[in-house]
Amino acid sequence: MKYYLIFIGCIVMSCSNKDATLKVSDHAEEQFIDSLLSKMTLNEKIGQTNLRGTSSRSKVLSEALKEDVRQGKVGALLNVMNVEFVDELQRIAVEESPNNIPIIFGRDIVHGFKTVFPIPLGMAASWDENVVRSSSRVAAIEARSVGINWTFAPMLDIARDSRWGRIAESPGEDPYLASVLGKAYIKGFQGDSLNGSTSIAACAKHYIGYGAAMGGRDYNTTLIPEPLLRNVYLPPFKAALDAGVATVMTSFNEINGIPASGNAYLLKEVLRDELEFDGFVVSDWDSVIEMIAHGYAADEKHAAELSAKAGLDMEMTSKAYENHLKELIEEGVITRSQLDGFVKNILRIKLRMGLFKTPYRDKNNEASFYAKSHLKAAEEAAIKSSVLLKNNGVLPLSSDMKVALMGPLANAPLDQMGTWTFDGEEEHSITPFKAFETANLNVVFEPVLTHSRDRSTEGFEKAIRVAKQSDVIVFVAGEEAILSGEAHSRAVINLPGAQEDLIKTLSKTGKPIILVIMAGRPITITNIIDDVDAVLMFWHPGTMGGPALQQVLYGEREPEGRLPVTWPKSSGQLPYFYNHKNTGRPANKQDYVAMYDIPIGAWQSSLGNDSHYLDIGYTPHFPFGYGLGYTQFKYDDLKISKDTIGFNDTLEVKVSIANLGDRPGKEIVQLYTQDVVGSITRPVKELKRFQHVTVKPGETKQMTFRISSDDLKFTNHEGTRAAETGDFNIWIGPHAASGLKETFYLKE
Ligand code: BGC
Repeated sequence: MKYYLIFIGCIVMSCSNKDATLKVSDHAEEQFIDSLLSKMTLNEKIGQTNLRGTSSRSKVLSEALKEDVRQGKVGALLNVMNVEFVDELQRIAVEESPNNIPIIFGRDIVHGFKTVFPIPLGMAASWDENVVRSSSRVAAIEARSVGINWTFAPMLDIARDSRWGRIAESPGEDPYLASVLGKAYIKGFQGDSLNGSTSIAACAKHYIGYGAAMGGRDYNTTLIPEPLLRNVYLPPFKAALDAGVATVMTSFNEINGIPASGNAYLLKEVLRDELEFDGFVVSDWDSVIEMIAHGYAADEKHAAELSAKAGLDMEMTSKAYENHLKELIEEGVITRSQLDGFVKNILRIKLRMGLFKTPYRDKNNEASFYAKSHLKAAEEAAIKSSVLLKNNGVLPLSSDMKVALMGPLANAPLDQMGTWTFDGEEEHSITPFKAFETANLNVVFEPVLTHSRDRSTEGFEKAIRVAKQSDVIVFVAGEEAILSGEAHSRAVINLPGAQEDLIKTLSKTGKPIILVIMAGRPITITNIIDDVDAVLMFWHPGTMGGPALQQVLYGEREPEGRLPVTWPKSSGQLPYFYNHKNTGRPANKQDYVAMYDIPIGAWQSSLGNDSHYLDIGYTPHFPFGYGLGYTQFKYDDLKISKDTIGFNDTLEVKVSIANLGDRPGKEIVQLYTQDVVGSITRPVKELKRFQHVTVKPGETKQMTFRISSDDLKFTNHEGTRAAETGDFNIWIGPHAASGLKETFYLKE
């Protein structure tokens, strides 16, 4: 150990002069790694590539695991959730293993540890980097106190299909928004420096294209042409690398016929050579050996060979490397220097995490679970992620109203935490029922349905009686947490069970209904939208869902979120996203013929001749970026600084926003562009900037945006990444389907 400390001392001391620092410390870093590597046996090196899975529920620390750690057969551990086990395993690694190399302890800390924040799709609806960063900061502080120093987050998979269960865990459908938020997650998890006492290493996952699973079916095949990869799926990963993410996880899916965990092009050429990633790449759970089921690897040994040749550094849970790397090296199939490369990448991150200096959990760093500030941050996030989709004036409620609080999610402490919350504790969740009760509001609670899939109509009569005695119904509907997340895709994404029937029954009472949706994805509500007076998307809001909802419904706060995904009318429209391409026959109002308007026995013709569905048309229920507040805004005076710009110019775009209502309001002002003609076809709109603004009643604020030719770059089929000269449209507005428009020209 002494040897390491002297070395680390040198590295730290070299950090005084900024420019020189990087080089000196990088050099020292590599020297340290090389010298350590030179002392390691082949077996120990292979050990470093091993991320061993354990069960967080184990009550005993197995002797076999201790022995493996002692022999240097384990580089990292997954799900060790007992602090004494963490301490003991690290002690064995640092004191008894051949080269005293510390272990990394990983866990999925996805949207909070104990204090649970809204699901990532909800966090994305905040469009707010500060909120996102504080959520991952809180998660890191709480997780680090139990010895976890590596999280498998953020997930940066662009998701354009709400059937996919993991859309809940995604940053939504837009590469720009996902990039901004991805950076914020990483800054929060990793803090100012990877070796900070409350920092945890982040992992950008799943590299790559996992969200493009065909049909929204989890793990499914993807076909991603090169321009799509580079223009849509890659940018959030690039942003993560720019933010200094320590690790990257490969995805389960195959891309164009080659599984991600054995994909040399993606791992070597793109991630290492082009993007210069110098952290380590870990596989997903068993994804190395799953290449056998994919039909890409013949057996476990072949899987190890393919992953190693592709440049995968660490294998999660399966043991293809552990069982076969040695043999593959002895046979000359894999070289020693290939293995050394993996080990160096892993040691580099261990070094940057400060593990050689401070391998142990800080026992004085008492767990600050559910600290007041953590709960406050979670409450703020839930408010900022709530999206108001409809309001005929019923919201905000006044406190003297008698409210019938109904629906299966109104008091569902476990479900409101959402997917990936192994460490959240339902007894700490404050449900809407609890919050309303604590606030002493005039509320009668009658859930009627016990869970979201409850099909019983038994309680309907009582529900009608309760509703009739109330002024307004707050119906908290949705999906249980288990209906979204990994392997929880749905083909039909409406409200399950008897929820729709109950809403229709209640609407007959004539009482206004506020539909609050807690779900892991957009839920199709076409059948019931006319039966309700307001719709608030609340995602799975986490620990503080109840108090956040109460503040939003009663107008203490506005619903501040905007949709990070297009909200479909029917799952038949999926995949559906705003930044699609045009067809040769774009849909339009004049030509659209609805199914029931077609005359019986009509002559065979190409109705309307454009790209639409006969039964549900061609528009979403709610567009990307959409969300109402409690006031109205007017956008005016869109001005661009020039109508022609060169490659080195900046275009300044100004717009004014007036608050026409009688209360202050917050708006997320969105800027989109369209490259009208390209060397490959270009999306109809692309988000390039957004800004949050608060405007007082009667006030008008001017907003300024700046973009340059850098923002207009894209990759074409030749692999050229460039902005192309020509005409551009530019919009500023409240969402992707509306906005003031200008045009400009990009010249040579
Ligand atoms: C998921 C990953 C996760 C890993 C470890 C896998 O099933 O796809 O996202 O990090 O398990 O829990």
